Amino acid sequence: MAKIKKIGILTSGGDAPGMNAAIRGVTRTAIFNGMQVVGIRHGYHGMIFGHFTRLKAHSVSDILARGGTILKTARSKEFMTAEGRKQAYDNLKKEGIDAVVVIGGDGSLTGARVFCDEYYDIPFIGIPGTIDNDIFGTDYTIGYDTAQNTVVDAVDKIRDTASSHNRLFFIEVMGRDAGFIALKTGIACGAEAILIPEVEGQVEGLKDYLEKGYKRKKSSNIIIVAEGEKSGGAFAIAEQVKEEFEEYSVRVSILGHIQRGGKPSAYDRVSASTLGYEAVQALLDDQKSVMVGFHNGEVDLVPFRKVIKLKKSVDPQQLEMADVLSI
Ligand code: F6P
Repeated sequence: MAKIKKIGILTSGGDAPGMNAAIRGVTRTAIFNGMQVVGIRHGYHGMIFGHFTRLKAHSVSDILARGGTILKTARSKEFMTAEGRKQAYDNLKKEGIDAVVVIGGDGSLTGARVFCDEYYDIPFIGIPGTIDNDIFGTDYTIGYDTAQNTVVDAVDKIRDTASSHNRLFFIEVMGRDAGFIALKTGIACGAEAILIPEVEGQVEGLKDYLEKGYKRKKSSNIIIVAEGEKSGGAFAIAEQVKEEFEEYSVRVSILGHIQRGGKPSAYDRVSASTLGYEAVQALLDDQKSVMVGFHNGEVDLVPFRKVIKLKKSVDPQQLEMADVLSI
């Protein structure tokens, strides 16, 4: 492959703490290796409409500790069309961009894959970035650690008031399609139950649990509900429980977008920096259409086609463990 002279970098989909660390990692590694770097603002939308900005080593100073993404992000409908992608390709060519690093979630990597199937001469490398941790082929996605810590902090606070008032709290956490945040934070906070999209019929089990708990005079409870839970989410379940268990005082708390913001944890900073560095190494090694992730603590390259086709699953043993620990 011809030597890469200029790379583009973008963030796409939901932002996640640590994306800036990855942008810095890519930018400085590329400059160190003699490349120029162009920041593509507003994700694929910016690729289509030419929102390009030159990044120098100093452009990424003081961003390691900041949440969000300095390049902004978007979910681009135009990039889902062949015309949109053609326009994006023409723009990359006009700007002289030889390779692109995309930081984002499932949808963003799907976009990269479709683009690379149509246009072969601009290699793309993906970096998994989403607080949801729901990308196949990597144990970790940027922002997941920080989001978990944010949730744990909030749930611990809610537990104080829940136990003071003998209340049952339903706390909804993010995870439109996946229960990773719910499962891990439920374990970390000693939640009495964890309801996730991957498992059906959990509400009946919850009712049994509450019945028994009340008999044992267990007066306060924390139930973590993933946003994508299939029976209607925290409010709907809380309504059912209120009707059937009048003895419980029920409250609902939706943690919402607070989970996406804030300073990245040390773990997110180090991991995102590593993935940024490794994404450029992959380009130097003539790789294309792969995501750089972690498998059992080691950096791993996974083809886009696998990342997109396969679904990452939660560990059923951990759910079982959470049940045992909450008796
Ligand atoms: O970043 C992924 C995610 O956190 C999902 O869990 C959630 O459903 C979604 O973002 C919400 O994002 P937005 O409000 O930007 O559509």
